[in-house]
Amino acid sequence: MSEVHVYPVPAEFASNAHINEQQYHAMYQQSVENPDQFWAEQAEQFLSWDQRWSKVSEYDFIKGEAAWFIDGKLNLTYNCIDRHLETRGDQTAIIWEGDDPADAKTISYRELHQQVCKLANVLKQRGVKKGDRVCIYIPMVVEAAYAMLACARIGAIHSVVFGGFSPEALKDRILNSDCQTLITADEGVRGGKSVPLKANADLALESCPNVHTVVTVQRTGGDIAWTEGRDIWYHEAVAEASDQCEPELMDAEDPLFILYTSGSTGQPKGVLHSTAGYLLQAAMTFKYTFDYQEGDIYWCTADVGWITGHSYSLYGPLANGATTLLFEGVPTYPDAARCWEICDKHQVNIFYTAPTAIRALMGVGDEFVTRTSRSSIKLLGTVGEPINPEAWEWYHRVVGEARCPIVDTWWQTETGAHMLTPLPGATALKPGSATRPFFGVQPILLDNDGNEITGAGEGNLAIKASWPSQIRSVYGDHQRMIDTYFSTYKGYYFTGDGARRDEDGYYWITGRVDDVLNVSGHRMGTAEVESALVLHDDVAEAAVVGYPHDIKGQGIYAYVTLMAGHQPSDQLLAELIQMCVQEIGPIAKPDLIQWAPGLPKTRSGKIMRRILRKVAANELELGDTSTLADPSVVDQLIENRLNK
Ligand code: PRX
Repeated sequence: MSEVHVYPVPAEFASNAHINEQQYHAMYQQSVENPDQFWAEQAEQFLSWDQRWSKVSEYDFIKGEAAWFIDGKLNLTYNCIDRHLETRGDQTAIIWEGDDPADAKTISYRELHQQVCKLANVLKQRGVKKGDRVCIYIPMVVEAAYAMLACARIGAIHSVVFGGFSPEALKDRILNSDCQTLITADEGVRGGKSVPLKANADLALESCPNVHTVVTVQRTGGDIAWTEGRDIWYHEAVAEASDQCEPELMDAEDPLFILYTSGSTGQPKGVLHSTAGYLLQAAMTFKYTFDYQEGDIYWCTADVGWITGHSYSLYGPLANGATTLLFEGVPTYPDAARCWEICDKHQVNIFYTAPTAIRALMGVGDEFVTRTSRSSIKLLGTVGEPINPEAWEWYHRVVGEARCPIVDTWWQTETGAHMLTPLPGATALKPGSATRPFFGVQPILLDNDGNEITGAGEGNLAIKASWPSQIRSVYGDHQRMIDTYFSTYKGYYFTGDGARRDEDGYYWITGRVDDVLNVSGHRMGTAEVESALVLHDDVAEAAVVGYPHDIKGQGIYAYVTLMAGHQPSDQLLAELIQMCVQEIGPIAKPDLIQWAPGLPKTRSGKIMRRILRKVAANELELGDTSTLADPSVVDQLIENRLNK
């Protein structure tokens, strides 16, 4: 391995940060030796409670059960909004930057309170009650934040579906959690192009008879269809609603939201998070990972359709009374300087994005960066996929002018909040490493037989004990929760990731060890893409694997076997790509589709994915192929490989 450059904690951070190296070690020690006492103290410090808990934690990793702050009562929106009103009612809660650089607005905490209450009252009038599921299929407009918070205000469970998902994918998610209310927009706007959200929703709803209410935000004023009785305009409904709405008293363990994410098998799972533990860890990691200081302007580029948008565009910052920036557009529109121009325009201090965006911006040249000032930025962050040291160095040297630490945060939809991450005042950085565990997190490495690896080494990353923002269940299917996370290694939560631990105890995520792809930081199951491909009448069989991609991290490589008598063609290729867009969304478009007359299978008929991954990666040392039913299949695959 090449020499790792270590970046020490900058002196300014070491002396002014919330947590320095010594404090990190002391607090970490306490957090794992006496977790209940540690988390009780944090829960007092970070959250406002209507009723104190009777017991801090209770969990069983065999049954996949966890509960935190049992019998405690609170409301998330009281914590994210109301309690700030007295001291910071006029402070900006949200800066909204539109797709068009001429569009921007700011929302104060007081205004946020009014808007959330109004929408909460609208939902109540439409019969939405505590525990009901509300689907939110919306672009990055401020109403996205109002919608999520309005649900939390009245105790409804939100299920945000990323606006890039297709009608088919939206339908599956609405049905799976029986959402009866949908909040959407006429159209979204990204990179100068409009996205037909309401039209997509209408299509999805053809198969969702239980949806009685669709609230539509007017974003573009584009033409849309209207179903009388079911559809209401957002602006008309809130205009008449009261701006006062008492927060519903919620149990600490009452569900807060469902967010669908991909696994290695089957349809996406509805990851269920509960209220108090989730909010506590989102709030605490926000403050410590980003070393958030009073008055900082903070920007996370994630869409609210992903967990990063939930925890770090919205809930973490608002719980801390921070100013969070929501951006509607894309980093390359009107050109590749957009992010840095936004940082200058709004004087952003903390900037958090995905490695795929960094690689894309790095690819177009430094000039887009260097023509901006960026002097307000003091900290940079990354999330969602491993960052290659080259991209890390560029981000550090060019964007951060070698002055800003980078926090590489490893976590998952299921973990709810940061799990492995540097703390900028405490952790010397190594490019490409998510460094050390956050407080209370006990990572361990296991070999394939489930034996713990101690000291430096590489293995499967698992977590030993519960943490407050842990997944509580897979919505409607707790057995799937047990099977997916708690069965591979008995007594541990299994992450699905591989990792290496070095001599300093730093963790280096090596990527998924299961059949989950990470394409531009978006998680996708190979099985989902395969299911979409085989829906085409001409396709007999399909196998999908990831392969290294310079910008996306991983690209989608599909091997397709056609039905007898059917020939490959450009048109068929286009139809197959369309099939993936239709079933999942544009993010699921295969990058490469190889026509494969046969797939490498064992004598018992199991596809040997190991071989397909190697051919896709253009690695031709295939290892032992003697167990294949027909080894000549492999020669053909190699001969016609597309990634040379
Ligand atoms: O493989 C890991 C990768 O993203 C997966 C989780 O994806 P998702 O649930 O969509 O959440 C993404 C945002 C938290 C993980 O299993 N991943 C996430 N962050 C990192 C990462 N891989 C390496 N380094 C990271 N910092």
